[in-house]
Amino acid sequence: MSKLDFLIGVPPSKELARITARKAGIKYCSLDVKKFPDGELLIKFNRDMKRKHVGFFLSLNNPNEKIVELLFAAHTAYEQGARELTLIAPYLPYMREDKAFHKGEVVSARILASILSGSFDRVITIDPHLHRIKDLKEIFEIPATKLSSVPLIASYIKSKIKKPLVIGPDEESFQWAKSVAEEAGCKATIFKKHRFSAKHVSVSGKLDAEISKYTVVIVDDIISTGHTMAESIKSLRKAGVKKVYCICVHGLFIEDSYAKLIRAGAAGVVTTNTIQNPHAKIDVTALIAGALK
Ligand code: R5P
Repeated sequence: MSKLDFLIGVPPSKELARITARKAGIKYCSLDVKKFPDGELLIKFNRDMKRKHVGFFLSLNNPNEKIVELLFAAHTAYEQGARELTLIAPYLPYMREDKAFHKGEVVSARILASILSGSFDRVITIDPHLHRIKDLKEIFEIPATKLSSVPLIASYIKSKIKKPLVIGPDEESFQWAKSVAEEAGCKATIFKKHRFSAKHVSVSGKLDAEISKYTVVIVDDIISTGHTMAESIKSLRKAGVKKVYCICVHGLFIEDSYAKLIRAGAAGVVTTNTIQNPHAKIDVTALIAGALK
């Protein structure tokens, strides 16, 4: 990949983009996005893009409007003569919709990847939710780089948590939980999750008596409604675990999910800052900057 000529921070990811650009030694500029009273967007560039390799930085939580914004911006950048466009989306949405669970359903992961492939030359993201789709190559028609926050999470655990034991709340999360535990040099185990609906899950698992001697860290890629983590915390507390921490990569925190985790008995909740939120204590900007250098 040729080095970016400049990195554009798309709101609301401006601050993260600015820090990343500084760490990567790339010029930063912002994009003006205004909204008309009817919700239509007015987007304005502040730079000449002729023959430039331009990076767009935007985390795609609450994705629908942001996708329209990005597509309009990418289209305009090309019209204005940009040579190459890279999308940096620390959180890539819709990846959990990786198959038609019911007849007639859209497989959103594939559609989104196809749309982005038509508008950008390259995509960089962090820990996308890959499950049935094993590799971004299966869905993107452009080079797609997957960065991993596992070493950052592992080093957070090593430095902050005494006698940790890592739990993955379900089979899908175990890829992160297992790698985090390996890097942190501690044990890992897995729960079984049954999802009845977006807001109703049950979590169970065999826990040996030893578990109560550990500080348990539940590691998942996403906290959305918080039900997965909350049910896991309840099982662990019932099994006699005194301290349970929740760590995830992408903190979506829908509705009162944080309060739900605290009510369930979490001693602490920590995320990376792929999505800015008050619990984002693990910084990924150097990781992204490294990939842009
Ligand atoms: C799904 O398998 C993911 O790994 C997460 O476990 C899930 O997205 C968490 O969602 P929620 O917080 O709504 O339970």
